[in-house]
Amino acid sequence: GLEWKLADHPKLPKGKTVAVVVLDGWGEASPNQYNCIHVADTPTMDSLKKGAPERWRLVRAHGTAVGLPTDDDMGNSEVGHNALGAGRIYAQGVKLVDIALASGKIYDGEGFKYIKECFETGTLHLIGLLSDGGVHSRLDQLQLLLKGVSEHGAKRIRVHVLTDGRDVSDGTSLGFVQTLENDLAKLHGKGVDAQIASGGGRMYVTMDRYENDWDVVKRGWEAHVLGDAPYKFTSAVEAVQKLREETNANDQYLPPFVIVNGNGKPVGQIVDGDAVVTFNFRADRMVMLAKALEYEDFDKFDRVRFPKIHYAGMLQYDGELKLPSHYLVSPPEIERTSGEYLVHNGVRTFACSETVKFGHVTFFWNGNRSGYFNPEMEEYVEIPSDSGIMFNVQPKMKALEIAEKARDAILGRKFHQVRVNLPNGDMVGHTGDIEATIVACKAADDAVKMILDAIEQVGGIYLVTADHGNAEDMVKRNKKGEPLLDKNGNIQILTSHTLQPVPLAIGGPGLLPEVRFRKDVPDGGLANVAATVMNLHGFEAPSNYEPTLIEVADN
Ligand code: 3PG
Ligand code: CO
Repeated sequence: GLEWKLADHPKLPKGKTVAVVVLDGWGEASPNQYNCIHVADTPTMDSLKKGAPERWRLVRAHGTAVGLPTDDDMGNSEVGHNALGAGRIYAQGVKLVDIALASGKIYDGEGFKYIKECFETGTLHLIGLLSDGGVHSRLDQLQLLLKGVSEHGAKRIRVHVLTDGRDVSDGTSLGFVQTLENDLAKLHGKGVDAQIASGGGRMYVTMDRYENDWDVVKRGWEAHVLGDAPYKFTSAVEAVQKLREETNANDQYLPPFVIVNGNGKPVGQIVDGDAVVTFNFRADRMVMLAKALEYEDFDKFDRVRFPKIHYAGMLQYDGELKLPSHYLVSPPEIERTSGEYLVHNGVRTFACSETVKFGHVTFFWNGNRSGYFNPEMEEYVEIPSDSGIMFNVQPKMKALEIAEKARDAILGRKFHQVRVNLPNGDMVGHTGDIEATIVACKAADDAVKMILDAIEQVGGIYLVTADHGNAEDMVKRNKKGEPLLDKNGNIQILTSHTLQPVPLAIGGPGLLPEVRFRKDVPDGGLANVAATVMNLHGFEAPSNYEPTLIEVADN
């Protein structure tokens, strides 16, 4: 096999404690009242910025810089952490699915053949996030898939939709459901019996992540598989409309619903002999459902029935667990990540976040791989997130607890790398609550301070960055950058991520005074960070990594 040994850096020493801090959803944007990072009291991050240009710079965190199809694609945590950890830019799942659909290769693969075996006598169920956000799924991919499967023999199709309002504006779900219903009606004209069968809001139904709250998945199971939900409607458009009006829920938190026929019977339970495809390409919020659909032995909730189905994911979601075992498109092969290299080179690593972001700084960081490379060299600590709440209610989240764990890991001197994700800017930013997001940003800044203080005490080095933007812009804007208003004259809240670059700061007493950011990588992005971190540990990065962003000046 290939060598794991990294070359020594010619000038930088080994053995320093390096804190790697990722602020989730923390971009750089012009200062104004909708920039929560600007409005919030953030003295630590402000002071780092004073180190520009030698010790503070911006890096690209969206679009092609992180392997997304175009530069109109906002960044997200999956592709951001993949790039940070892997040090190279991979064509990401969204792009691989685009290619497989465009070429039609998706229908030649083992995964499609497997689900096709059910088309003659069973129903094909498609389950996933319904929006054009492009973070977990994309409407146009679903549309192409519907067309393709019906041309390849699917005669009865049921779609189970999770409404978004998080990667896209709240209130847009109604339009997406209308579009989908029109498409399904057209299939009817071609002799395919296709309709929406169940649904619910993505944050309340099905799409939990990192085992934060299995009840979310249970609600989804009951609606999609058992045809059982507290709300029953004869059309999905009516479901979304009425639930928004009558339960006051937004798109993200819509309660579960099932579609019933005139006799009150669910139109699309999942039963023996059916095929199921989860059409999200992104893993984190599909893994739990995938386990429920695939694992014979399962004790996370009572499934009541465990139908014998042919199940395939749009992608394989977990390369280590090989989950699911059948999939339509092969995932990006992210290999030889910085974490694996460093462990092979004696760098002891500690990683920590709270549940809702824990897998970001472990699973995504390590190239969509769960578990340790070497448990003797690594420790991953998960702080339980508050569950069953919206994060604007507790905007400080577990930032303090994460920082305390990092501080203790640094002061304990057992680890060379102490890596954290601070979720506040992102998780609270997604709620669209500006006041709460300001509190969130301060909490993240306080956490950075605690970690930097510990680095100061041990003579270590810090690298502070972010995975993508969110909290730095909370309003939708027109092409000129002016805030958009709704018909009542209120601003239109932006709950999603942004296209903004993110800060990257280095420093600490362990960093040689001659170290500074190079000037010849002006377009540097998140993928350049891995080589930079390897240098800070005293190693040269592998030659196929994106170049380091630092140099050592000769005085
Ligand atoms: C989510 O899953 O919460 C959002 O769709 C994306 O947020 P993240 O990329 O910051 O996790
Ligand atoms: Co986010």
